[in-house]
Amino acid sequence: MGQLLALRRDPLGTLMQAQSFGPVVPLQLEPFDVVAIFDAGVAHHVLHDPDAYTKGTRVQRVMRTLLGNGLLTAQGAEWRARRRLAQPAFRKPRLAAYTQIMHDVSRQFADRWRATTDPLDLNREMMRLALQIASRCLFDDQLEGQAEDLDQAMGRILASFQRMVTQPVARPEAIPFGPAATYRRAISEIDAIVADLVARRRARGSDGDDLLHLWLHSDLDDEAIRDEVVTMLLAAHETTANALTWAWLHLLRYPDALRAIRDEVAELGGPEGVLELSPRAGALPWTDAVVAETLRLYPPAWATGRSCAAAGELHPEGHSSVPVRQGTVLLMCFYAMHRSPRAWTHPEGFDPGRWLRAPSSGGVKGLTLPELPYVPFGTGQRKCIGSHFATLEARIALATLASSVDLALEPAQQISTAPAITLRPDGPVWARVSDPQTHHQMAR
Ligand code: HEM
Repeated sequence: MGQLLALRRDPLGTLMQAQSFGPVVPLQLEPFDVVAIFDAGVAHHVLHDPDAYTKGTRVQRVMRTLLGNGLLTAQGAEWRARRRLAQPAFRKPRLAAYTQIMHDVSRQFADRWRATTDPLDLNREMMRLALQIASRCLFDDQLEGQAEDLDQAMGRILASFQRMVTQPVARPEAIPFGPAATYRRAISEIDAIVADLVARRRARGSDGDDLLHLWLHSDLDDEAIRDEVVTMLLAAHETTANALTWAWLHLLRYPDALRAIRDEVAELGGPEGVLELSPRAGALPWTDAVVAETLRLYPPAWATGRSCAAAGELHPEGHSSVPVRQGTVLLMCFYAMHRSPRAWTHPEGFDPGRWLRAPSSGGVKGLTLPELPYVPFGTGQRKCIGSHFATLEARIALATLASSVDLALEPAQQISTAPAITLRPDGPVWARVSDPQTHHQMAR
């Protein structure tokens, strides 16, 4: 119970501490049987074998009350069919088409920021930006007027989710009061927004090649379409928005990184060059390095779990095997893995340059799992379907905004992490357009 309370109070700190005990650590979380995995090789093995290590965990079950049987939570043949259905929306030609939307939305934000002297909450701004991009690209809809309601509902879902999954009862989601009741109410609010979105599209009766069009012209029934929309909406916007907020926080604290982004955008010919060249891999190496380093230190999907379908053993390299029972939950904390002192030099430091240096010069360029414990998008069959979408969006939004507006953080802010399903900052991140003279020049 001691460790369960600690995990409830401070999941990241507790798991960072657990990591110091070794690569595979059984946690004392009675009544739960949980083994924490910090070893890149074991994580690779587990995430590449979805039949032996399933999504049949308690966390996934609670998530299912929100996401139903959507792409993130479905398993087996049903998952395969849904992944196949959604895949065309994430292929290269579609990504190229999204570039224009990502760029337009980023330019609109830059224009609005330049016109205000009010402080901006960067987390709220990035939530709005990511929501607009996701809804326009994936659903061909602006979700006009619904962003605030969606944010509010999402905030309540995340806060109550974390409290529920660490409650030492069998079915926390079935409790009629407390966090479970808040959770259910917030789900109904999201359901209403999604029902509106689908009804709007059906009424419009339009064609298209966006994801909503694909679903509406498939054999999915209304409930399955609802599950897919909610899953994609939340998976696409919440994660990317948090990544962008953490990136801003670092760019405003590390002027060298910000300057490197501005310099490479200037070399491309300014924000218009970003539009033209950004889909090309390697066009904005510093921007990509800032994104990679942000996802290392603040992975928005900070952990995932799998349930063992049968008893067996795990084999961390250089250590003795660890037995697991049927039903043991394997918890992979990406946040801790990404900060392991065994794998990273100065693991807590923000050093985007490490992604541009070869291992012989102390960098990690070219390394991936299983050599490097870096898994912001997961791996294996269930790897994030939106990883290219997210990195493209982050690249375009950061490059466009950073080269168009001069921001400064409001002083004396204490910002820390609020881990729930995603890794959010624990409150607003206030910044202000810092120098009207400079931003006027940048706009030109
Ligand atoms: C920085 C942004 C993002 C991060 C860090 C992230 C992270 C992840 C991770 C770690 C997983 C695997 C979960 C597991 O194995 O348990 C995942 C799955 C998924 N992500 Fe993302 N994601 C991001 C952006 C997006 C975007 C933009 C979309 C959609 C446009 C998206 C849609 C999904 C979906 C549908 C799945 C489930 C895939 C499946 O199981 O087949 N994500 N994401």
